[in-house]
Amino acid sequence: MVQRGLLIVVEGCDRSGKSTQCENLVAKLQQTGNDTELVKFPDRTTQTGKMIDSYLQQKSDLDDHAIHLLFSANRWEAMKTLSEKLSTGTTLVVDRYAFSGVAFSSAKGLDLEWCRNPDIGLLTPDIVLFLDLTIDEAEKRGGFGQERYEKRDLQIKVRDEFTKLQDDTWKFIDASQSKDQVQQDIWDTIKQFKQKSTKDGIQPLQF
Ligand code: TMP
Ligand code: MG
Repeated sequence: MVQRGLLIVVEGCDRSGKSTQCENLVAKLQQTGNDTELVKFPDRTTQTGKMIDSYLQQKSDLDDHAIHLLFSANRWEAMKTLSEKLSTGTTLVVDRYAFSGVAFSSAKGLDLEWCRNPDIGLLTPDIVLFLDLTIDEAEKRGGFGQERYEKRDLQIKVRDEFTKLQDDTWKFIDASQSKDQVQQDIWDTIKQFKQKSTKDGIQPLQF
């Protein structure tokens, strides 16, 4: 029987280095013989993703609840494919997931419990790497971009909301360190986790 892949989620505020670190992690896992793919949410290529992209680029406006549900739908529509990949042995490194959904919408003022509901039942991550960076440090990296949520005041609230969502699957990574050191910390964390989960026998993913 094929051992299933791991569902590794990477979260953090904008400018925390998530995308670079996700790419590095995928490359490193592949080099060490693990069938691995990168997944990114929002997936801007699908129908829901195009609406989300337009909203983020401030080309269209949507009610806060409606955009929250679209982000969730954007994950749900990927679940069947992702669960098939995991069950056939592919490890997935996921750049943002439901935690971003809840953290951003609740930072905008929506009720936290309401925000959690649409994502209930999504595949449960095996491990969540939270790339932690203060907003001052994030701004030192050349400032935020032009998208709707890339604003100091909102990002401060988002970081605060993220910390409310942590459970024992979360590992905090100090993202203020050099790129290489962050990469090393992530790799050490994943190696440790893989050893432990192989020893314990990986349990089925909740779906
Ligand atoms: P990105 O910069 O990683 O492409 O993400 C786009 C923005 O969307 C980012 O500011 C975080 C936000 N976001 C949500 O508000 N809800 C979500 O569910 C996700 C995945 C991202
Ligand atoms: Mg962004």
